[in-house]
Amino acid sequence: MTITSTQEQLTGTDELRFPAGFRWGAATASYQIEGAATEDGRTPSIWDVFSRTPGKVFEGHSGDVACEHYHRYREDVALMAQLGLGVYRFSLAWPRIKPDGSGPVNQRGLDFYDRLVDELLGHGIDPMITLYHWDLPQVLEERGGWTNRDTAHYLADLATAAVARLGDRVATWTTLNEPWCSGFLGYASGVHAPGRQEPKAAFEAVHHLMLGHGLAARALRAGGAREVSLTLNLTDVRPANPADPHDLAAARHIDGLQNRLFLDPALRGHYPPDMLALFERFGAAGVIRPGDEAVIAAPIDLLGVNYYQPALVRARVGTPSSAAHPGSEGIEFVDQAVPVTAMDWPVDPTGLSDLLLRLAADYPETPLMVTENGAAYDDVVEGDRVADADRIGYLDGHLRAAHAAIAGGADLRGYLAWSLLDNYEWGYGYGKRFGLVHVDYDTQRRLPKDSARWYAEVIGRNGLA
Ligand code: FCB
Repeated sequence: MTITSTQEQLTGTDELRFPAGFRWGAATASYQIEGAATEDGRTPSIWDVFSRTPGKVFEGHSGDVACEHYHRYREDVALMAQLGLGVYRFSLAWPRIKPDGSGPVNQRGLDFYDRLVDELLGHGIDPMITLYHWDLPQVLEERGGWTNRDTAHYLADLATAAVARLGDRVATWTTLNEPWCSGFLGYASGVHAPGRQEPKAAFEAVHHLMLGHGLAARALRAGGAREVSLTLNLTDVRPANPADPHDLAAARHIDGLQNRLFLDPALRGHYPPDMLALFERFGAAGVIRPGDEAVIAAPIDLLGVNYYQPALVRARVGTPSSAAHPGSEGIEFVDQAVPVTAMDWPVDPTGLSDLLLRLAADYPETPLMVTENGAAYDDVVEGDRVADADRIGYLDGHLRAAHAAIAGGADLRGYLAWSLLDNYEWGYGYGKRFGLVHVDYDTQRRLPKDSARWYAEVIGRNGLA
């Protein structure tokens, strides 16, 4: 799509319209919604273990029951149809499909996804499958988890099994969700499962995740997948003072850890030199073997962008490293003078437009899709209504930013809201609600919030009023 034709489409009417064929949807992840933690042969994942470890997760909440989506998927697909979703992005629970992580396929685990896919297709909704959204089989963690190179190969085996069963009906596949989180929150800061706090392990994990991405992308393609993608949580990293070279260097460093460490090997075929220096500094460079970068650069058809908030940083001598950004001594994360969500995440949609335009400039060959964007607020149920004006404001602002990026030349193909349902928000348990649809965890009643109705209208008119 050329910039001119996009602009013509966008400015052809008074309302703000998205390009014809723009893909609208919503996203979830297996551990956050499925429940049924011990059914049909599923074994524990690292999140089952982590959530049971005292002090790791808000009030000891776990995904044991979650939204019971495993049993209520028909009702949930009907809700998606009411919203008019064209795409539903969900993930596969690895321990359902390969209960011992690497061995035989448990067909009962795949049966669930088979039923779900048919239900979606029956409602005219395209399934978009993420292979790995953080629920590694615990048995693999006991063998080193992502610090073990074998795990990358096991991810490719999972891809082969899944595409063999579902590939006849599922066109769009994603290898990983947010390897930054798996690597740095899982192995460096330890706020996510498996909760390790070892920078060396985090860099090893990052490389094996990226290797797993490349191997899985290849396996998906070999199995007939038509659209292969990778989803990253990318951040627009800004210097507090753009005129200060130290602040610029600080922003460049965090941009490296957050963005380029993943984008460059996947889309350019090599790790950036400043990030290779960090692998070396933490004693992890040995995991990168000759030929690995070529595997990681397996061609993809779509880059998934998960965007929630920008970051503002400045250089300040003496600041200790952030635990989640190893090697960031002397860099301070600065509060932003903007409203925040219930997560305390700053709300600034310009971060999304800047990010999309930067991706379009730096990696112009790769079409983009926003695969997650949304906000937690402290919703109040009043009778049959959740009047979540804040969430509508958040989504509206970010859709305007996405639209502006398209007008500026970004090849953005779609937008998926996080999330369809309120769900298990990892370390925050059920305390934070991101859903378009409210879930009463005592009764499992689903109640579309005002934002759900608003989003259905946006989808219906392919734009904003
Ligand atoms: C992303 C995760 C998703 C959800 C949102 C709020 O980092 O991919 O599972 O937790 O944040």
